[in-house]
Amino acid sequence: MLALNLSPDVFALVYLVATVFFILGLKGLSSPRTALKGNRNAMIGMLLAVLATLVHPDVQDYTWILAGLGLGAVVGIAVALRIQMTAMPQLVAALHSFVGLAAVFIAAGTFYGHSASGQEMDTAILIEIAAGSFIGAITFTGSLVAFGKLQELLSSNPLVFKGQHWLNLLLGVAMLGFAAQFAITLDPLPFWIMTGIALLLGFLLVLPIGGADMPVVVSMLNSYSGWAAAATGFTLNNHLLITTGALVGSSGAILSYIMCKAMNRSIVSVILGGFGGEASAQAAAGPAKGIKSASVEDAAFMLENSGKVIIVPGYGMAVAQAQHAMKELVHTLGKKGVEVKFAIHPVAGRMPGHMNVLLAESDIPYDIVFEMEDINSDFSGCDVALVVGANDVVNPAAKTDKSSPLYGMPILDAYKAKQVFVIKRSMKAGYAGVDNALFYHDNCSLVFGDAKAVCENLVKTFEAS
Ligand code: TAP
Repeated sequence: MLALNLSPDVFALVYLVATVFFILGLKGLSSPRTALKGNRNAMIGMLLAVLATLVHPDVQDYTWILAGLGLGAVVGIAVALRIQMTAMPQLVAALHSFVGLAAVFIAAGTFYGHSASGQEMDTAILIEIAAGSFIGAITFTGSLVAFGKLQELLSSNPLVFKGQHWLNLLLGVAMLGFAAQFAITLDPLPFWIMTGIALLLGFLLVLPIGGADMPVVVSMLNSYSGWAAAATGFTLNNHLLITTGALVGSSGAILSYIMCKAMNRSIVSVILGGFGGEASAQAAAGPAKGIKSASVEDAAFMLENSGKVIIVPGYGMAVAQAQHAMKELVHTLGKKGVEVKFAIHPVAGRMPGHMNVLLAESDIPYDIVFEMEDINSDFSGCDVALVVGANDVVNPAAKTDKSSPLYGMPILDAYKAKQVFVIKRSMKAGYAGVDNALFYHDNCSLVFGDAKAVCENLVKTFEAS
């Protein structure tokens, strides 16, 4: 038995210190420069939290804990070793679903445990049990749908039907009604009906979300999983779980708000499920008319004779792992006196900060990397916009085509540059599954190929010239 018979104040102090480390972790993650330190702080906080919990006198038996730790470690290590960086969002969605399911189990376990031991349950604990279960259930199925869409097991098109919002509202009211009945009567039947409705709601809230809007949903589910953990903390009377859950819940909510602002979506509509996703997404498959293609040599010639170049990286850069080749490109252009900047869209790639992480990995200086609002006005004064594996984030249809699922999302104004080169492998659409109006602009040419190979060939061409 590892349990230490220390005063509860000692545990409270260690939990407080762990919480401070979590806050320092979150603070560090707000900038790529401090992200590594932030991660370290969060890991120290988690180590303290786990150790303090393991030696807590309330822990009577280690069998299940060790079994869970062992199984979790095996699965976690196997997944972490195999997962591609580009598949992180679906991994995060899958992990959120586990948090949700755990919250349901803990709520049910606490209820049945108290009932079996004849412990009295006041209204407060019953409300906590109900809230933990329904928030957890919504998080569980919502995250499963998000996982399915991100993994492309489900269509990323919004699934919409008439009266959807009214149905969600009705289900929401019924769910709260059964929660109240459970809290008053202590009857397990309304508890399970409430949980069943919440599971259904999770599906219905995320199914209508279209591909391009998934980032907002993932961060919203992140927030839900935090609140589910906080509700669990109340149920278990564990202060650390309450503060950690609240930190995850509120930081996820802030991130969702920032994403909503970036995507020009309403946060209320996100919470209610689906936001104007009625438009149908049309995939652009085969080669289209009116598209100009350019060779690597054409693009190299234009680039080295430019004064200002703005590079727009996107998901394709991550797929191709082109960041190191791009650094060489920037270096070579710099030697030729070309001013190069990077323009980062808030939802470029597949997770928040995806592009920043990759650019930082290849040591591209932070001072040439700009967020959308800081660089968008520069496109009209630049000679070449080089779009590397980005698609949706530069699609002008978001401004002009009301029927597009992207409509209303702010974009990087690459189309305003004198010349645009887009590096991609084919005419396939981006994540939102829609054709890109940029490709038909007179000033736009496509350089077909893998982003890494094209960047490397551009550098070779510069060096040969
Ligand atoms: P996308 O619109 O997804 O386009 C990526 C493009 O990269 C595709 O058109 C693809 O065309 C090209 N590509 C793929 N592999 C490539 C390779 N090896 N070499 C060169 N090109 C390659 O990317 P984006 O512009 O970054 O936009 C992100 C989208 O994902 C948005 O719709 C966003 O809402 C959504 N999303 C974002 C997040 C977050 S939080 N960032 C999370 C989930 C979803 P080819 O296949 O023809 O090469």
